[in-house]
Amino acid sequence: MNGMIGFLGAAYPWVKAAHLIFVIFWIAGLFMLPRFYIYHQPVAPGSPEDALWLDRESRLRRIIITPAMVIVWLFGLMLAFNIGAFQEGWFHAKLLAVIALSGYHGWAVAYGKKFAGGHRPRSDKPLRLMNEVPGIATAIIVILVIVKPF
Ligand code: HEM
Repeated sequence: MNGMIGFLGAAYPWVKAAHLIFVIFWIAGLFMLPRFYIYHQPVAPGSPEDALWLDRESRLRRIIITPAMVIVWLFGLMLAFNIGAFQEGWFHAKLLAVIALSGYHGWAVAYGKKFAGGHRPRSDKPLRLMNEVPGIATAIIVILVIVKPF
């Protein structure tokens, strides 16, 4: 494997495995969070059920998705320096996609803060549409990194 020649040496496949483990945690959490918002949306602000959802949402953000995103970035950048990915077309495209996915993460976190402030959107349609983003991003990223079409 070409990755074996970089500074990570024999640790390269281990870092790659850790990268993928935390990718799965991150994406799983990104699938759950807007789902939670969809269930939360009809609940009256200030009710006991509202407090339950706010707690579930903040735990998911604090314990799963935010730490997972940070770790995915750390290991991903280590892999990139190890294999000199910064010169490669597929990696530029992947970087764009992961920056977009991180932006989506930020949007989803900010949306939860609006819920905590008592905001309730009239319809859950925008949430359902946004919920497609992590699935589409995952498909694009996996094709870029496995097929390396350019
Ligand atoms: C957040 C910043 C990220 C960076 C900087 C990054 C970077 C990298 C690099 C440099 C590799 C090694 C590629 C190779 O050995 O050919 C890699 C592997 C991989 N990454 Fe990421 N990645 C990131 C996020 C993600 C995300 C969000 C996903 C999936 C949704 C993902 C999926 C994969 C997969 C499937 C592999 C294994 C490819 C192989 O077997 O070689 N990565 N990543």
